[in-house]
Amino acid sequence: MASRGSPTRAAEPAPTRSARTPFVGRREILSVLEDGLDETLDGHGKSFLVAGEPGIGKTRTVEELIHAATERGFAVHVSRCHEVQGAPALWPWVRLAREIMGVGRDANLLAELGVEGRALARLLPEMASPASVHEPAAEEGEATLFELFEAVANLLRRASRAMPRLVVLEDVHWAELASLQLARFLSREIREDRVALVTTVRDTEVGTRDRLAAPLADLAADTHLLQLQGLDEAAIASLVAHAAGFEVPDILAAAVHAQTGGNPLFATEVVRMLAQEGRLGTPNEPMPEAMRSRFHRRGSRSPRRRRLG
Ligand SMILES: Nc1ncnc2c1ncn2[C@@H]1O[C@H](COP(=O)(O)OP(=O)(O)OP(=O)(O)O)[C@@H](O)[C@H]1O
Ligand SMILES: [Mg+2]
Repeated sequence: MASRGSPTRAAEPAPTRSARTPFVGRREILSVLEDGLDETLDGHGKSFLVAGEPGIGKTRTVEELIHAATERGFAVHVSRCHEVQGAPALWPWVRLAREIMGVGRDANLLAELGVEGRALARLLPEMASPASVHEPAAEEGEATLFELFEAVANLLRRASRAMPRLVVLEDVHWAELASLQLARFLSREIREDRVALVTTVRDTEVGTRDRLAAPLADLAADTHLLQLQGLDEAAIASLVAHAAGFEVPDILAAAVHAQTGGNPLFATEVVRMLAQEGRLGTPNEPMPEAMRSRFHRRGSRSPRRRRLG
């Protein structure tokens, strides 16, 4: 991943632009996201929530964005929420904050953080020692959640003076409440900073009565919501051709599109399955004649959305 300025760091290894499949479609969404990066560079930080069903391409779209961001000189910080019980509160943000502070803890940043450093020390206990940050313990008092949120915002703000920042928080459908609230808080706070925030969510996982439904709706209200739909037929045709290794008849691409609702994960799996079963044909004879008529019938059905289990 190319980067101008100092090297990009990430709380989790920043995904490199995948060579698995060529990135197809999504031009409009990517250009909205890239415009967001440009505005962020001009000091108008942007927050995006990328939503969609499993396998629809949220992570892949963000990977493309990360590539664009590093080319523009952003430092990129990636963290994700996991489907585990009992993770410490704000854990994905702890990882991000650690990352932004840098392994060796940036001395200038620490000194600048001053009072906020005390609130941050609740998030990052390893910050509790430097004299440059800390007043005597007796004066500390209880940092409220709000102070903590402010401290994270200020950490990001100050860090962004050295280098613009892209912060990615993946899979917030598995976040705990405070992490979601912090994402929303930052979405509002970064508007005058060189900080872009991208969160991703499987909206299909959060029912209306889910405990996260309201905080997610709040987050969506304060971000630019990008709802990923299925890829169009042309994009699926490219994916199918790539997965097959040769150009496939339009009718096959259309059938795969119809069967998968344009979900790239399903589409790739369907092609793999067809290939394994020898039903994909060869470059010289793509798809035997008998299959064509079967696919013709299937392809003419109305598109059907499938969910991954
Ligand atoms: N626009 C695209 N062009 C090419 N391949 C894509 C595209 N979008 C997604 N893919 C591929 O489809 C698969 C699923 O995509 P991805 O992992 O981004 O889905 P997701 O929405 O993040 O799913 P999940 O909710 O499970 O995290 C990946 O192999 C990815 O590389
Ligand atoms: Mg994903």
